[in-house]
Amino acid sequence: MKRVDDFRLKFGKKEFVPIMVGGMGVDISTAELALEAVRLGGIGHISDAMVPDVSDRRFDTSFVKDKTRFYKHNIDNSDKSTIKFDLAVLADATRRHVDATMQAKRGEGLVFVNCMEKLTMNAPRETLQVRMASALDAGIDGITLSAGLHLGSFGLIADHPRFRDAKLGIIVSSVRALQLFLRKNAKLDRRPDYVIVEGPLAGGHLGFGMDWAQYDLATIMAEIVQFMKTEQLDIPVIAAGGIFTGSDAVSFLEQGAAAVQVATRFTVANECGLPDKVKQEYFRASEEDIVVNTISPTGYPMRMLRNTPAIGAGIRPNCEAYGYLLDGNGNCAYITAYNQQVALHPDSKTISVMDKTCLCTHMRNFNCWTCGHYTYRLKDTTRRLEDGSYQSLSAEHIFKDYQFSVDQQVALPG
Ligand SMILES: Cc1cc2nc3c(=O)[nH]c(=O)nc-3n(C[C@H](O)[C@H](O)[C@H](O)COP(=O)(O)O)c2cc1C
Repeated sequence: MKRVDDFRLKFGKKEFVPIMVGGMGVDISTAELALEAVRLGGIGHISDAMVPDVSDRRFDTSFVKDKTRFYKHNIDNSDKSTIKFDLAVLADATRRHVDATMQAKRGEGLVFVNCMEKLTMNAPRETLQVRMASALDAGIDGITLSAGLHLGSFGLIADHPRFRDAKLGIIVSSVRALQLFLRKNAKLDRRPDYVIVEGPLAGGHLGFGMDWAQYDLATIMAEIVQFMKTEQLDIPVIAAGGIFTGSDAVSFLEQGAAAVQVATRFTVANECGLPDKVKQEYFRASEEDIVVNTISPTGYPMRMLRNTPAIGAGIRPNCEAYGYLLDGNGNCAYITAYNQQVALHPDSKTISVMDKTCLCTHMRNFNCWTCGHYTYRLKDTTRRLEDGSYQSLSAEHIFKDYQFSVDQQVALPG
């Protein structure tokens, strides 16, 4: 019976354990978590979501406070179009985050950064360019483009000296999205080094509509593997979304996947950035507690725990401090939803906004409990302690369970 360790992910002549720990924004996939995957010979992701805030926490910078102070005069103004990111600050924060992670790197694996296009930051092209270029400057091994079609993203860094040596990949949820990406970038003569195929059971935002349940990862994988064969493209295809056991992973590796990307199992790892009490919420969740809704202002459906504090919270938009989802014109769907509720309840001190959520603030405060479909199985991966809580696990334990387990088994911690 095969196990994940019988397979290797190959990038050129280099070989890796075919396990990628997926990016989980805002510092849920911490450097510590990514570095464990790297030490064990796989691929770990950090995320550049809200990186000035991450830098403040990691390096005691004051980027968010400075920005808030600078735009304080605008707090009561519903027009957020003048709020811009200082690109030098964004570059500085990204370099710090990536550089410190790369300096701490041990082992044979690689560190990639997850870069979401939907973080439009009121200047989509300029900010994305700075984020990617600064990560490359600071020596990141690779960039995973996510949450968007990224049709112009390669073009933004085509002049960077590391454009051809760093690993660049993209997350897609359909063969159509991949075809579009390849077509748009054909003139750059630079193919992605890997393609992650994310199915509808993943955590975070979904690359599907609310009809996500009609799709399944195995079918999309088969279509994309076939497409690669037909086009004679030799690009590793990596399966993601709902791969919960080593045996699940093996079935994708046997079907032609070069590796798997996993995340949910690692949300309860000691090295994961979620606060301990939130990890316990993930452990406790039952199947009915996991919902897909449209409260994310990005327009993508998102999966989360039903009792997540972000649902219905009517806080004032916090774009002066954050503003990561402002489109190029100072708009965010949460601002619109919030203003509607304020207009409907002019005398209320507190309001509830059900349609959308202030995702920046809630992700920043670990109050948007996004999770994968199989979160309800996490309780089966550990032991229950005497006080009723669940024992958290080391990332090494989870990684090795994926790597060596067979027969749908999950090893419990010692
Ligand atoms: C808590 C959480 C946060 C996530 N955040 C992001 C993100 O910021 N960007 C992204 O591209 N994917 C994100 N994902 C998706 C994962 O990187 C990964 O592809 C997917 O969840 C794999 O499926 P699994 O969780 O069933 O293993 C997130 C997943 C989880 C569970």
